[in-house]
Amino acid sequence: MTATDTALVLDETRWSIVERRASMTAAERLAADVRYGLAQQPPTLPARWFYDEKGSVLFDEITRLPEYYPTRRETEILKARAADIVATTGATTLIELGSGTSEKTRILLRAFTARGPLLFAPMDVSVEVLADAAGTVAATYPGITVQATVADFDESLAPLAGDPGARLIAFLGGTIGNLDPEGRDEFFTKLRDAMAPGDHLLIGADLRKDPARLVAAYDDSAGVTAAFNRNLIEVLRRELQAEGLDPADFVHVARWNAEASRIEMWLRAATDVHARFPTLDLEWELAAGEEMLTEISTKFDLPGLHQVPVELGVEDGLVGVVEVAQGPLAGEAAGELRQLLRQLNMSRQQLAQLHKCPNHKDADLHSSLTI
Ligand SMILES: C[S@@+](CC[C@H](N)C(=O)[O-])C[C@H]1O[C@@H](n2cnc3c(N)ncnc32)[C@H](O)[C@@H]1O
Repeated sequence: MTATDTALVLDETRWSIVERRASMTAAERLAADVRYGLAQQPPTLPARWFYDEKGSVLFDEITRLPEYYPTRRETEILKARAADIVATTGATTLIELGSGTSEKTRILLRAFTARGPLLFAPMDVSVEVLADAAGTVAATYPGITVQATVADFDESLAPLAGDPGARLIAFLGGTIGNLDPEGRDEFFTKLRDAMAPGDHLLIGADLRKDPARLVAAYDDSAGVTAAFNRNLIEVLRRELQAEGLDPADFVHVARWNAEASRIEMWLRAATDVHARFPTLDLEWELAAGEEMLTEISTKFDLPGLHQVPVELGVEDGLVGVVEVAQGPLAGEAAGELRQLLRQLNMSRQQLAQLHKCPNHKDADLHSSLTI
């Protein structure tokens, strides 16, 4: 806990939760995002506003849907590679950004505790889910102390919990894909400023694949993703005491944008919407058929993912890259990866590790890198 954090719960059961002071309060940030985002053409809002208590529960339901393959794949990958991740990083602190329920993370937590005590520092904007996850993890794993932080990763990430040089920072669930290139750039700049030499980064990112499969994952037959998307309207209505806003007036749309290599979620007005935000002295109109962009989920290719160290600005200081999960690489992708690893002076042994990875037909991928 630093001088800028506010304690929410500090008890003696090995878990605590604090709220990090930010440049603006959540209410001020929402007001700023709404003023700016609704004035855009097309209107758009950042994904963080999905995750009130109801939105977090709906997201959790999404992760169990038959169409939503990313969580199952990431779980498989983590199970297959958890021991390697522990050995490669030697971390004594696991920091998780945008941690949500931290359900998959427990695979890593189990592997770390088999080795020794661990500090687990999850971070999320959603206080209810974070508190629940922190309490459950502390109760389940006697070797883990949990320091949870309610914080926005669009703010400064420093100071990171734990001992500099012995930390693993995990960013799972494809959340990196929710940031546009400019947002990724800012995020990696903050991350680089917060990380120390010897810290490791583990990113869960999804790769491009058949658009029909992608669209199905974001437009499930049970309508859970539609409810998740429409809940954004309820958050605006409730938090800003808005008039003329009703989730039922919006239709969920999921679309593949090939040019930007991303799934986009939109809310289309089913009727003329005329909303008033008295607390902001703002009015907003969306004609029937017009749309608001509510989420992007970028799907990467290997060269795109290998831009990550470059985006982090650590290409010179990079001492190793280990692909912790990748189906057997073929053709062009394998060539590109080998070339990248050669540039990074990877040892033969590390190169060989690549080929021991289990086969994932979706070629979902995680990269771990050390700065
Ligand atoms: C796609 S979910 C992933 C959750 C979890 N990591 C997983 O792998 O299932 C994104 C998570 O990031 C959190 N989140 C979204 N925007 C955030 C922000 N700006 N700062 C911190 N957390 C954020 C959400 O509350 C949510 O828990």
